[in-house]
Amino acid sequence: MGKLVVLDHPLIQHKLTMIRDHRTGTKAFRELVDEVATLMAFEITRDLPLEETEVETPVAKAKAYRIAGKKLGIVPVLRAGLGMVDGVLNLIPAAKVGHVGLFRDPETLKPVEYYFKMPPDISERDLIIVDPMLATGGTAAETITLLKKRGAHNIKLMCLIGAPEGVKAVQTAHPDVDIYLAALDDHLNEHGYIVPGLGDAGDRLFGTK
Ligand code: URA
Repeated sequence: MGKLVVLDHPLIQHKLTMIRDHRTGTKAFRELVDEVATLMAFEITRDLPLEETEVETPVAKAKAYRIAGKKLGIVPVLRAGLGMVDGVLNLIPAAKVGHVGLFRDPETLKPVEYYFKMPPDISERDLIIVDPMLATGGTAAETITLLKKRGAHNIKLMCLIGAPEGVKAVQTAHPDVDIYLAALDDHLNEHGYIVPGLGDAGDRLFGTK
C-alpha cells in the first residue's frame, strides 16, 4: 500500500487555513496555493538521492553533495492543478511539465481523456501529479493509469486537501503511488465537494465564480 502523508508543517497549515477561508479573494488564493505548493514540494523531495561531489570554496576544497541526476516531471491535472505548477518549479526549475485533461462522461460518469501531452521520456522521470483536491479519486486514479500506460512507473500524487473516499480509491487502484496532502478532510457531500474543503479550487484560482 502506498504511503499517505499529511504534511503538518506549521507554515503549510497556517497558509492552508487562509486558503480555506471563504473571504480570501482570487489574488491571495492564487499566491497562497503557489506558496503551499512550494512548501509541499520541499517536503516531498526529501527522499531524492544524493551523490558525493567536490566543490572549491574561496577557502578550501570541500566534500559536498548534489542530487544524483534524477529527472523530475510535474503533471498538473487541468484546470486547477495549474495553480500548483509554479510553486513546485520554484524549487525544481529544471523539471519538465506534462498536462492531463479529463472530463466526466455524463452517461458513464467515468473520466474521459481530452488532453494528454507529456515530455517524451516519462518512463525515466519521477513524476509528481498535482491537483488541489482529491475528492472521489476518479480523476487522480485515471491520470495515474494513463501515465502508467505511457511507461511511467515512479509516481507521487500531491494535493492540498483529500477526502477519505479519494484516498481509498487511489490506494486501491494504485497501491504503488504515495499520496501527499496538506489536510485529510472529513467526507464528500452529495455534490462531490470535500467537507469542509475550500470550495471549487478551479473557480477560486481563476476567479470564474
Ligand atoms: N473539486 C473542487 O474544486 N472542490 C472540491 O471540494 C471537490 C472537487
